[in-house]
Amino acid sequence: MPKTPTIKTTLPGPRAKKLIKLDKTYVSPSYTRVYPLVVDQAKGLWVHDVDGNIFLDFTAGIAVNATGHCHPQVVKAIQRQAEQLLHMSGTDFYYTPQIQLAEKIASVVPGNGPKRVYFGNSGAEAVEAAFKLARWHTKRELNIAFFGAFHGRTMGALSLTASKTVQKKHYNPLVPGITHIPYAYCYRCAYNLCYPDCELFCVKWIEDTLFRTTVPAEEVAAIFVEPIQGEGGYIVPPPGFHKEMCRIAKKYGILYVADEVQSGMGRTGKMFAMEHFKAKADIIAIAKGIASGLPLGAMVAPAKIMDWEAGSHASTFGGNPISCQAAMATIELLEKSLMKNATVQGKRLMKGLHELQKTYECMGDVRGKGLMVGVEFVKDRETKEPATKWRPAIIRKAFQKGLLILGCGENSIRFCPALTVSAKEIDLGLSIFEEAVREVAG
Ligand SMILES: Cc1ncc(COP(=O)(O)O)c(C=O)c1O
Repeated sequence: MPKTPTIKTTLPGPRAKKLIKLDKTYVSPSYTRVYPLVVDQAKGLWVHDVDGNIFLDFTAGIAVNATGHCHPQVVKAIQRQAEQLLHMSGTDFYYTPQIQLAEKIASVVPGNGPKRVYFGNSGAEAVEAAFKLARWHTKRELNIAFFGAFHGRTMGALSLTASKTVQKKHYNPLVPGITHIPYAYCYRCAYNLCYPDCELFCVKWIEDTLFRTTVPAEEVAAIFVEPIQGEGGYIVPPPGFHKEMCRIAKKYGILYVADEVQSGMGRTGKMFAMEHFKAKADIIAIAKGIASGLPLGAMVAPAKIMDWEAGSHASTFGGNPISCQAAMATIELLEKSLMKNATVQGKRLMKGLHELQKTYECMGDVRGKGLMVGVEFVKDRETKEPATKWRPAIIRKAFQKGLLILGCGENSIRFCPALTVSAKEIDLGLSIFEEAVREVAG
């Protein structure tokens, strides 16, 4: 595999052009492709397009290929299982991989005591399951979620989402009883306060205002939260935020549901991002990185909370045996070395970006944990006016130079390479990113 990006054709190349034309004819126009990459094959962090161009991938298929593209151990686990059993439906029958994976997940999710795992196929399904379980267990109807949150696109998960109106337009009425509140987005505090002087006003406001005026706490089933907001802009809340939120939730018998779909499975250097905040959620939703690219979602809760009866929720494909084997191989790799690598390379990436921030005024904020790192672009450091046009221009420029990155929020770029990324690959990504920033906004 090459160690530098190689762009041999204009982009898109002739084969890519043909396929994109065909895609436009047959594939749903609801997808949001920001640049014309047509992938043929990939290994580790290196992606080959259909015209033989080679790219360094800092997207990991939107934070999914945790172990890099086609990790040999994951591929072997998939191949072995494919020869033995493709599907039987874990909702109606038993099979070993689903049971073994449930046992493994229960052991890596923080918290003592017995736990149960529900399997679906995606992040939205994991969140949807948490939504239903919270209602089932508490028999309460209301829920709280955050502005900027992305929890998925099925009607329940979409109702919790508050990221972009295009995701909700024409889909109302959605599930009722959800109140969205400001996230602890300190770079742009909704209350114009500064941490730590604010004394976590955004959390206090819930008890002092929300619960006293419009939302009776005793009717709230759950608070849904991303430990670090993903789609909303890779926003890291301040220390103490989740701990204080958990305290309030517990006080009123409300379940704290951590959507770890993007932040979980080692991406931040710990198995789950909540661990950075020394706080423990009641329910966890997992997907994306869990099976290195195979479709799998999981919702995990203590046995005393996952107390629903047979038939109350299920999925034909959820916990597919091949996905379960891929997940077991993935977790083994994460535990062996990749979480540690995420910490080490994440620090290198953050350090490099902070260095660039000294030169490029437009890099308003650099933030993240492990390999979940975001840069927010502004026109002016003082006014923090979002540089919404530079963001896509930088992403496209990086693509032309052979680096794959994606946006998040209104004006941020996310860096979420595979957890196998090397120091050389981090440095290479940083240098291409710098060229793109310099040429667009320098
Ligand atoms: C935090 C979070 N939750 C849920 C989802 C939905 O996952 P999926 O697209 O697998 O349904 C996403 C996807 O980006 C996500 O980032």
